[in-house]
Amino acid sequence: MAHNLLKGKKGIIFGALDEKSIAWSTALRCVEEGAEIVLTNAPIALRMGEINKLAELCKAPVIPADVTNMDDLKNLFTKSMEHFGGKIDFVLHSVGMSINMRKGKSYTDLDYDFSHKTFDISAMSLHRVLQTAYQLDALNEWASVVALTYIAAQRVFPDYSEMADAKSMLESISRSFGFHYGLKNKVRVNTISQSPTKTTAGGGVKGFDGFISYAEKMSPLGNATAQQCADYCVVMFSDMTRMVTMQNLFHDGGFSFTGVSAAVIEQMEK
Ligand code: NAI
Repeated sequence: MAHNLLKGKKGIIFGALDEKSIAWSTALRCVEEGAEIVLTNAPIALRMGEINKLAELCKAPVIPADVTNMDDLKNLFTKSMEHFGGKIDFVLHSVGMSINMRKGKSYTDLDYDFSHKTFDISAMSLHRVLQTAYQLDALNEWASVVALTYIAAQRVFPDYSEMADAKSMLESISRSFGFHYGLKNKVRVNTISQSPTKTTAGGGVKGFDGFISYAEKMSPLGNATAQQCADYCVVMFSDMTRMVTMQNLFHDGGFSFTGVSAAVIEQMEK
């Protein structure tokens, strides 16, 4: 059910690859709530993915940008402002990729060239996006920027490997830039720490199916879905959360604060 929470707002959504992507659901929900959006993804993902289908549904232009390329990001923000005829009210950073994981390299055998790339795509890119917007003065006052993260930034999930370090950096950048952008323009920056979710990026984690059912059993509310994450993003983009900034917000059905559950103990006793 729509509530017009984003009526008149304009946003950029990074990272919709296919229907499973959290960014895909978020794009649809934002439009349902009255927003106008621009969609963006890496040029290669645009060729492989199905973003044109989403663009049609959302009546949104697609502007390619590799998040590690400053010229691409400048072009994205400049063209988006031209398209909207003004500044931007919200940005979703829904981007992540581990090159070492892709190449099957474990945490104790990292290739550091791969790691550089992983950290650039998955963490430093948030700084690049924010700095581009900051220097172009592309965001309206009270604009809201959300990046997606995972609890492996705080606790060890061994198979999440170098992405845990990337997510720690991502959350730190969100806090640090949130401070500077808050002072300058009242722009808010937060991360949402989402339950494990079956998507292309999620599926890249070794043992993901076991991982997802463990989290389901540990969380009193169960795992949060991509659609529920989209709902939370909408609320964070809306004016209902104006004073929330520099936070890491758990959206995980209670997983992060649960020590153990009867369902998990039962499993252990089998
Ligand atoms: P996804 O695979 O659908 O989305 C990842 C996106 O990153 C893709 O659209 C991909 O094209 C984009 N991307 C990769 N390299 C890029 C580059 N150089 N430039 C621009 N875009 C690039 O998977 P999902 O799960 O929707 O991921 C979105 C975010 O949610 C990621 O940050 C992920 O780490 C985070 N997250 C995912 C969870 C899960 O279990 N699926 C749990 C918690 C957080």
